[in-house]
Amino acid sequence: MSGEGAAMMIVELRDVCKEYLLGETTVHAMRHLSLAIDEGEFVVVLGPSGCGKTTLLNMVSTLDRPTSGQVFVDGEEVSAYTDSERTRFRAKKVGLVFQFYNLFPALTARENVEIGLAPVIKDAAVMRQRAEEYLRLVGLGDQVDKFPAQMSGGEQQRVAIARALAKEPRLLLADEPTGNLDAESGEMVWQLLRELNERTGTTVIAVTHQTDVARLASRIVHLRSGQLADTGQQGAVV
Ligand SMILES: Nc1ncnc2c1ncn2[C@@H]1O[C@H](COP(=O)(O)OP(=O)(O)OP(=O)(O)O)[C@@H](O)[C@H]1O
Ligand SMILES: [Mg+2]
Repeated sequence: MSGEGAAMMIVELRDVCKEYLLGETTVHAMRHLSLAIDEGEFVVVLGPSGCGKTTLLNMVSTLDRPTSGQVFVDGEEVSAYTDSERTRFRAKKVGLVFQFYNLFPALTARENVEIGLAPVIKDAAVMRQRAEEYLRLVGLGDQVDKFPAQMSGGEQQRVAIARALAKEPRLLLADEPTGNLDAESGEMVWQLLRELNERTGTTVIAVTHQTDVARLASRIVHLRSGQLADTGQQGAVV
């Protein structure tokens, strides 16, 4: 899908349904959701607990597959990828920030960031420099040699954020990225995401419960019961 003139679409969900079987019952986590996101957008996804926000990110990141419907990224049907294609896609194109930070306990902060860079940067010195640059940006410049167990929860979360951002990925998917941070560190992280979005054109899809984050968004997506509730432009009442 090569866009000419108009902004290029980077993510498209077409009539996506996701169902989970729980014993005898079927949980409809996503119901016929269609959504298109242009390159460079900063999308903030809002909605009550259980409405399908994480499910939406899992469909786009290829961590999970739709029950029906299709997901496209950069014009490729990622929902039809094989397992190895999905792994490669995530390693090369996607930065993921989870609510739980998933750091390797035996690696230092810098090594944890470098691991995420390995698929995209081959030169060890460049990789080290990039890792240190992003740890500095999240306020951890003096803690690069610490192991996760030697850091607070919020510091570990910032390492995970540095790991996702340092790749300067095509697509950054963040699920409650500031859940464990105080207001000041949280604000710093949101500003960083916005800065990366503006500087490198990385498309951001961020899930949060903090409605004030919506002010940073180029678009707000409201989810209710696995469907789009409403979308609005920046400044919309949320
Ligand atoms: N593996 C699973 N098995 C069964 N049901 C699931 C599974 N994962 C999610 N669900 C259900 O699907 C629905 C959507 O879940 P999802 O995790 O996307 O919600 P969410 O909007 O991210 O909520 P929260 O804000 O609490 O993180 C919920 O009803 C949830 O209980
Ligand atoms: Mg969730």
